Amino acid sequence: MSKTITDNITWVGKVDWELTMFHGNELSTKRGSSYNAYLVRGLTKTVLLDTVWGPYDKEFVSRLKAEVPLDQIDAIIMQHNETDHSGALAELMREIPDTPVYCTAKGEAILRGHYHKDWNFVNVKTGDVLELGGDERLTFIEAPMLHWPDTMFTYYNGGGGVLFSNDGFGQHYASENLFNDEVPECEMMYEALKYYANILSTYSPMVSRKVKEILGMNLPLSMICPSHGVIWRKEPAQIVEKYLQWSDSYQEDQVTIVYDTMWNSTRLMAEAIARGIKAEAPATTVKIFNAAKEDKNDILTEVFRSKAVLVGSPTINYGYSYAIAGILEMLKGMRLKKKKAAAFGSYGWSGEGAKLISAALAEAGFEVADEGCRTLWVPDDKALKDAEAYGKAFALKL
Ligand code: FEO
Repeated sequence: MSKTITDNITWVGKVDWELTMFHGNELSTKRGSSYNAYLVRGLTKTVLLDTVWGPYDKEFVSRLKAEVPLDQIDAIIMQHNETDHSGALAELMREIPDTPVYCTAKGEAILRGHYHKDWNFVNVKTGDVLELGGDERLTFIEAPMLHWPDTMFTYYNGGGGVLFSNDGFGQHYASENLFNDEVPECEMMYEALKYYANILSTYSPMVSRKVKEILGMNLPLSMICPSHGVIWRKEPAQIVEKYLQWSDSYQEDQVTIVYDTMWNSTRLMAEAIARGIKAEAPATTVKIFNAAKEDKNDILTEVFRSKAVLVGSPTINYGYSYAIAGILEMLKGMRLKKKKAAAFGSYGWSGEGAKLISAALAEAGFEVADEGCRTLWVPDDKALKDAEAYGKAFALKL
């Protein structure tokens, strides 16, 4: 079912309530998602922006037909061609094979690489326009790496100014409501943060430049329409301001402790270190996660918002645990900046786990504060007091 946004903008996407993982198994989507596609009807041209994920291609085309005769679609704009947005394009193009497909040059290369079709591509770059009739037009704004090299935004000067931002400003958040003022703000904002931390933080320098460039254009803006989640209708500038903050070495007064444990020794250390930090810095939020039990993407979101992270593992087979290895690899990919870190863990004989974690944290771009904290075998009262003292000393370095 399509949904009305304004007199001439219609949502024609798909809400995916059952999506629990995205990018294979890389990203959890506990609140589902949506693949937003939009139909803009100008005075003389009708334009479709993006499609939906492949499993819903027939449903998408069928519902689109109910909304508009397909031969009345004058152009298809593919803002970004990852399959969650381009997956229904082939099905649609079987019906209207000559319709021009507007995309960046990289977008064309990606579509050719995915679907191996010689469609009627029209390459566009920043500043190019598609006239819709009257005074209305769509203006393209390239936005590489938000979140692939092909990505572009599209600005519509009607309706008080509407920015179609594809992945930018999105949330993996399924809702039957269209707008941000119609959903619980707290859960939706958490999903926007989780989305930024897990998908976009790697590209923060590009995000920062692009957001500043768009703000510099001083465009009227009544709505931001992303390709996932709800539309920013209430105070659309709020998410732009958040992106400026998140892309600039973001941190809150929080320390996140991530650990794995075999027989609870490293868990006891994590809790003792947390007590020490809290004793020294009562106002600081301290959160503890078992990497083997908690959702990895929620952990990464908490690290993203922290000023420091402590990572702990018992030494296992001259290294560290499988769960901690996964977290460290993902942290490396996030390219976080200006965050302090340290390692800890229990050991029985060789004991190099904490040292190896420290090296991995340094390689991931963290400022490693010290050589970390280790305990031989099971911590006794003295060892727990030492871990608490270590937590206090760590807090003083922040
Ligand atoms: Fe929503 Fe980068 O695809």
